[in-house]
Amino acid sequence: MADKKIIAVVGATGAQGGGLVRAIVSDKSGEFAARALTRDVNADKAKELAKLGAEVVAADVHDVESLKRAFTGAYGAFCVTFFWAHMSPEKEFAEAKAMAQAAKHAGLKHVIWSTLEDTRQWVPLSDNRMPTLMGKYKVPHFDAKGEANRVFTELGLPTTFLLTSFYWDNLIHFGMGPKKGPDGKLAFTLPMGDKKLPGIAAEDIGKCALSIFKKGREFIGKTAGVAGEHVTGAQMAAALTKALGQEVRYNDVPPDVYRKFGFPGAEDLGNMFQFKRDFESYFCGARNPAVARSLNPSLQTFDTWLARNKSRIPLE
Ligand SMILES: NC(=O)c1ccc[n+]([C@@H]2O[C@H](COP(=O)([O-])OP(=O)(O)OC[C@H]3O[C@@H](n4cnc5c(N)ncnc54)[C@H](OP(=O)(O)O)[C@@H]3O)[C@@H](O)[C@H]2O)c1
Repeated sequence: MADKKIIAVVGATGAQGGGLVRAIVSDKSGEFAARALTRDVNADKAKELAKLGAEVVAADVHDVESLKRAFTGAYGAFCVTFFWAHMSPEKEFAEAKAMAQAAKHAGLKHVIWSTLEDTRQWVPLSDNRMPTLMGKYKVPHFDAKGEANRVFTELGLPTTFLLTSFYWDNLIHFGMGPKKGPDGKLAFTLPMGDKKLPGIAAEDIGKCALSIFKKGREFIGKTAGVAGEHVTGAQMAAALTKALGQEVRYNDVPPDVYRKFGFPGAEDLGNMFQFKRDFESYFCGARNPAVARSLNPSLQTFDTWLARNKSRIPLE
């Protein structure tokens, strides 16, 4: 254990970080050891990680001193922020800054920052194709992450900027699965027209991240985008139809209709899907499944993910 390089994993009890911890502890090469960060070391999910062989330590991304302690002695860190816990881009930026400062303090050799695009570089605030939200954002949960990239760069951190994709797990946990309409038929709603949406099994992000840590120098200072597959709404509906054994229609709504659905974050997500739709070729190009597969040969496609997870998708 002592000769292993420690990776401090933020969000270790969550989707991205959890996948990385599981990838590290099951990696036969044994090159790395996982240090799982959590706010509550006594929570069931934290105990499960300890059972798998991770070192579990307390830290809160809103407390930079706790991050400094948790990063000390580590070789690298996986940094992710938690927009949906508070829905504040300013708080998210502060979380990223605190992690970058702690990484600098600890003198880490490799940091993976799980980021997304600052969409304002493509859609300036003056572009009225989509509304400006919270005064200065187009896609709040993307923009603050992209804006925070410069903090890692300015501190001179050896960073890999990891562009993630839409988790297919959103169909299970985020209320995005097919819903029954008044006619009793299932429909899958996505405001993407006929454009492709890069998606990924959340568990695969961590597997890709482990490979990036292993490759080290090749990825430091670089941006890497990961996706399992690029699929249209119609293709997703067809795959759902096959997997669930009942018809699922693609309910293609305009982004403006999606923004008005009224659930918390609907406007943010409406703008996000419109950005992905309007800049399909850039957005898909930045997330090449072949690159992800070269990092993680067991990368899942939508069909493989569905075969394993279809029974977990709530249908009513
Ligand atoms: N859903 C998608 O399709 C998607 C796609 C790309 C990117 N993202 C981004 O992914 C990010 C979230 O990552 P995730 O999905 O891996 O998270 P997640 O599964 O929601 O996990 C959240 C974890 O974050 C930890 N956490 C929350 N607040 C914390 C704090 N103040 N300090 C320390 N830890 C804290 C919690 O751990 P403890 O309770 O153990 O402390 C929790 O287990 C978001 O910013 C989102 O925008 C999402």
